[in-house]
Amino acid sequence: MKLKIGIDKLGFYIPDLFVDMNNLAKARDIEPEKFTIGIGQEKMSIAPITQDPVTLAANAALKILDEQDKQEIDFVIFGTETGIDSSKSAGVYVHQLLGLNPEARNIEVKQACYGATAAIQLAKGHIALHPNSKVLVLGSDIARYGLRTPGESTQGAGAVAIIMSANPKLMALEEQSAFLTSDIMDFWRPTYSENAIVDGKLSNEQYILFFSKVWEQYKAKTGLELKDFEALCYHLPYTKMGLKALRVILDEGSEADQERLLANYEQSTLYNKDVGNIYTGSLYLSLLSLLEQKEGLAAGSRIGLFSYGSGAVGEFFTGILQPGYREHLNTVAHQQLLSSRTEVTVLEYEKVFEQTLPTDGSTVELAIDEDPAPICLTGITNHMRQYVNKLA
Ligand code: CAA
Repeated sequence: MKLKIGIDKLGFYIPDLFVDMNNLAKARDIEPEKFTIGIGQEKMSIAPITQDPVTLAANAALKILDEQDKQEIDFVIFGTETGIDSSKSAGVYVHQLLGLNPEARNIEVKQACYGATAAIQLAKGHIALHPNSKVLVLGSDIARYGLRTPGESTQGAGAVAIIMSANPKLMALEEQSAFLTSDIMDFWRPTYSENAIVDGKLSNEQYILFFSKVWEQYKAKTGLELKDFEALCYHLPYTKMGLKALRVILDEGSEADQERLLANYEQSTLYNKDVGNIYTGSLYLSLLSLLEQKEGLAAGSRIGLFSYGSGAVGEFFTGILQPGYREHLNTVAHQQLLSSRTEVTVLEYEKVFEQTLPTDGSTVELAIDEDPAPICLTGITNHMRQYVNKLA
């Protein structure tokens, strides 16, 4: 029998602060419905200065790893487009903070929001060669476009942590997938800039074009059709985006297919609506939202996943839910993570947004007492970021 490889555990972490999109709209003199309906976002996650992509990822992984995982993980792949260093992998800090087995590989990968998907596909190949391996995939980002920019309502912050293994408990990835690369400038971030540069209209168009192309390619490769899918999950820069792409292919299905896919799409957006764009982790936050919020998704169901990383690389791939998968979800803890956050006013959000780390090599010490996260950034000394795991 062929070895099943896929997602064994899946978790996420978001910082403690959020701003309500209705308040942000009012402060910007925009009708709130533009953000809540037109964009499809309710709350936006905000990272305090004591959280960076390293701490977000480490906090996400902390929640899912047990001692056995820590020993068995022999490869860490950190996907990010908001990395903290041009040379050292963000995953190496996480390795130390979590006490992972040192006899392991550790790298960072980058291709905008496609990074975590690239990591998953690399992990799949690694496990096919070494079936006893476990791979820790991290997708962690802080999405920034700038105050009062058109992209402002599509910011966010957070991380996902995924354990990939043979005989996974949640979802086995299927063999075939369809992917595409094209050199376009729809969204990018030069190394000198804290904020992303984006051509919003072009990025929306390219997202849909990439989805249409990989979907056609996938159908031609596999002979599968819309009716063969229980649900489709999308990279969600904002929750209306995936819906726009889904609508492009909906009429390929019967009325029942359309109803099912639209209803499941809704469930797959619930977490993202309250978090915003977490770039490379967004697709997997959406998958988690579907699995945890939609009751009664049968084991054996096929889920389609569309990953899009501006610049651009896109991929459509699929997974099959495994028997008993629901017993391995952390729904209550995840809902609590979402509901126990602290709301800030728009003025407070602006202050947090403008507080950035020095870029001239100066030393800084950060107060971490107001950040409830177990793992925090405590400062910078001699150009080195300092972290603490309060639980260690
Ligand atoms: N009530 C209800 N809906 C309203 C409304 C109201 N009062 N006012 C406006 N709307 C609707 C509009 O009709 C529009 O809906 P449709 O897109 O369905 O037509 C929607 O709200 C948005 O309005 P605009 O198009 O006018 O919004 P905008 O131009 O100000 O900005 C944006 C939208 C381009 C997404 C911008 O936020 C942006 O640039 N974001 C960053 C880029 C991005 O997320 N791109 C997505 C694809 S790229 C990608 O996926 C990679 C990634 O992660 C970045």
